[in-house]
Amino acid sequence: MTALALDNVEMVFGGLRAVGGVSLEVPSRSIFGLIGPNGAGKTTVFNCVTGVYTPTGGRITFEGERIDGLPAFKVAARGIARTFQNIRLFGQMSVLENVLVAAHRARKTGLWDALLRTRRYHDDERSMRARALELLAIFKLDDQEGARASSLPYGDQRRLEIARALMLAPRMLLLDEPAAGMNSSEASVLKGQLHELRDRFKLTIVLVEHNMQVVMNVCELVHVMDRGETIAHGTPEAVQRDPKVLEAYLGAGGTRAPEPAPDTTEPGEVLLSVKGLAVRYGGIQAVRGLDLEVRRGELVALIGANGAGKTSTLKAIARVLPWAAGDVTFEGRSLARTPAHELVSLGVALSPEGRAIFPNLTVEENLELGAYTVRDPSARRRAMEEVIALFPRLGERRAQLGGTLSGGEQQMLAIARALMSRPRLLLLDEPSLGIAPVLVDQIFEAIARIRAQGTTILLVEQNTRRALAAAQRAYVIVTGEIALSGTARELAEDPRVQGAYLGH
Ligand SMILES: Nc1ncnc2c1ncn2[C@@H]1O[C@H](COP(=O)(O)OP(=O)(O)OP(=O)(O)O)[C@@H](O)[C@H]1O
Ligand SMILES: [Mg+2]
Repeated sequence: MTALALDNVEMVFGGLRAVGGVSLEVPSRSIFGLIGPNGAGKTTVFNCVTGVYTPTGGRITFEGERIDGLPAFKVAARGIARTFQNIRLFGQMSVLENVLVAAHRARKTGLWDALLRTRRYHDDERSMRARALELLAIFKLDDQEGARASSLPYGDQRRLEIARALMLAPRMLLLDEPAAGMNSSEASVLKGQLHELRDRFKLTIVLVEHNMQVVMNVCELVHVMDRGETIAHGTPEAVQRDPKVLEAYLGAGGTRAPEPAPDTTEPGEVLLSVKGLAVRYGGIQAVRGLDLEVRRGELVALIGANGAGKTSTLKAIARVLPWAAGDVTFEGRSLARTPAHELVSLGVALSPEGRAIFPNLTVEENLELGAYTVRDPSARRRAMEEVIALFPRLGERRAQLGGTLSGGEQQMLAIARALMSRPRLLLLDEPSLGIAPVLVDQIFEAIARIRAQGTTILLVEQNTRRALAAAQRAYVIVTGEIALSGTARELAEDPRVQGAYLGH
């Protein structure tokens, strides 16, 4: 039986055909993959199915009934739940509360029961709580029920979003890049969990994902889009060999495992020095006495599992998070009294994890803001030309609102914006997150070019293999402390690194 069917669905924004007549059928209880390059139209398909957009053409049926054009809440009521590419949790609420907010649809009681606190209300309340905790337990988040959602590492936030979607008791679950930001061992855990969820909750799952390990292992059927159109469809094995898919999407990145390049450049003097840095979230110590050093001209990678403290370290260096202890110096001067906004004029820029671009400003305005410290208009123009040469897609979309860019396009914008101030030190958090395999190659080529132009880089990356191939030196962070350090080549060959992060 077919759960979801798209018949010639089209979505046009202004002059752009984001989806140009896509037809597909998702069998009931299957795990179905929707893949394609950045900007192919995958998230737009999800938005058309879930009622965020009314398609400009075609029809969508769920379990035999038309759903295109229904408002989002009605689509949810039919039994379709989703997660978002950019995490949408209530950051200030607890883990448990984030799941419980989705409970209203599953409740049996009404307003009167709530106002009068009837017995039925209390029973309902208890059963909702039990269900929420059961869902959290599947993702091993039940021991964190009281933690603030924003304090969870990225991978856990993604799992929490899935738990919240399941609280709606859906029959169909649409997941937009659930494995983004997970390392290879976490991604393997997720693979198992998707099967478990499908069987336990009798779900049909549609998965948009750039992690090919996950797609090829869990999906029974795969549909491939490029520029709004279908370019291939079939079993994972067939799709993987299709020359059109190789060219448009997989590139060489899927098969080639780059070796760390021998590096001949002489590192300069110490540019950034971190000593005894500590960061706390409430009672939790995320970074505990961390030491590291970056020399002028180097590309240094900071690698480690989800939640090890990589992003917290970068944010603390960028003064976005307060330090509980320790010191950071840049060009020999302590940053202890430097507010975040002054760091850019000193020559330090951060490209944050999860993009954090300005959604209501255009691409061009986002880039201009990155260059607010550059006074000379001709220097600003040159910087703009340089970043557009690095990411041509941004040049095509100068007037588009940041918030409407695809996930991968937003990632390009975040990196480009950080480069607009022409920093001497670039802090790059997960640049390959949400990037299609063929583009990951291009992003790392761009990083190499940025470095060749004289920018020193501290790189945080879940893709350990790529990070070690690009870097000269690296640090491995384990529960907020540096556990190993050395040249990238040494670490790539270290059995401890291979076992924990390279999936050997
Ligand atoms: N509201 C909108 N207005 C204008 N353009 C849009 C809008 N929404 C999406 N687009 C454009 O449509 C194209 C498809 O976007 P979509 O988000 O569906 O891509 P995607 O396949 O999910 O890509 P990614 O893998 O990078 O997330 C993109 O080029 C995007 O910039
Ligand atoms: Mg997307």
